Amino acid sequence: MKLAILGPLSRSYEEIRVIEEAAKVFSSTSYFAIPQINVEIRKGNFALTYKNKDLMNYEVIYPRIPRTYKKFGATILSLLQQGGAQLPITPESLVLSHNKFLTLLLLQERDIPVPETYMAVKRETLEHALEKLDYPLVMKLIYGSKGAGVMFADSKQSAVSVMDALERFNEPIFVEEFIKNKGEDVRLYIVGGRVISSMKRVAKEGEMRSNIGIGGVGEKYEPTHEEKRMALKSAKVLEMDICGIDIMHGPNGPVVIEANVNAQFQGLEKADSKNVAGEIVKYLRRQGAFWRS
Ligand SMILES: Nc1ncnc2c1ncn2[C@@H]1O[C@H](COP(=O)(O)OP(=O)(O)O)[C@@H](O)[C@H]1O
Ligand SMILES: [Mg+2]
Repeated sequence: MKLAILGPLSRSYEEIRVIEEAAKVFSSTSYFAIPQINVEIRKGNFALTYKNKDLMNYEVIYPRIPRTYKKFGATILSLLQQGGAQLPITPESLVLSHNKFLTLLLLQERDIPVPETYMAVKRETLEHALEKLDYPLVMKLIYGSKGAGVMFADSKQSAVSVMDALERFNEPIFVEEFIKNKGEDVRLYIVGGRVISSMKRVAKEGEMRSNIGIGGVGEKYEPTHEEKRMALKSAKVLEMDICGIDIMHGPNGPVVIEANVNAQFQGLEKADSKNVAGEIVKYLRRQGAFWRS
């Protein structure tokens, strides 16, 4: 059985680890960089090629499509789907999960607790949120990741100046209730309807964002029943068989703050001593056998 991984031009730790583990269970593993994929519409048919290789020949596909290629990536996934491939990440879920606001909207519609959230393109339309929310409040870039794009404002005055800058750059203004805690959150890694690894992340001294890439420290953590239930339901609602769900605990209980379609797992493998890449590959292999049977 052959595996195709679709990802960015330069491979991250995660892609390299999945390729390494895949070599143990797949007859062949190929890595396709999205910008080198070519789509053609031909008479009565279409083709999806990468340097003369036909992408439709792969039984199992693992998409790790970065935000920059979200739209083209979704097109590729749709074509693969039309060709009969079952995907752990659907084209719709790729687009949705790269948009923090739409993700939270869908989760709350399905009764999963999320922070109170507002979005607008003009600051003056958010005046009521600035009056209502406690400070600090959180502002985010809709497509931010790795902590970059998350901003905190201690007062209405500083929130207004950040919002004016966002408005100037034509960026949607995304405002969120600040979840009061010590700068900790919990990451649950889901593969095929199971929590296969988890950790608590603690922000470094003087920092409110707990992302590992900006100094947060991952610790081994056994999730509660409630956290597992929320994370599994989130993955299901968002139609992602493989993903990382982030949960924060505030005074009103746990809330899902983010769903990561291309979740990193280097910090997680270190904190939790689990073979996350191995679990992903085993799942893809099992599903491949099931889909093709
Ligand atoms: N509403 C919030 N209240 C308090 N802290 C937050 C909130 N949202 C995010 N954070 C902190 O910022 C970090 C990054 O936020 P997140 O939305 O996950 O963005 P990214 O995609 O950049 O990881 C979180 O891990 C958490 O530590
Ligand atoms: Mg995050």
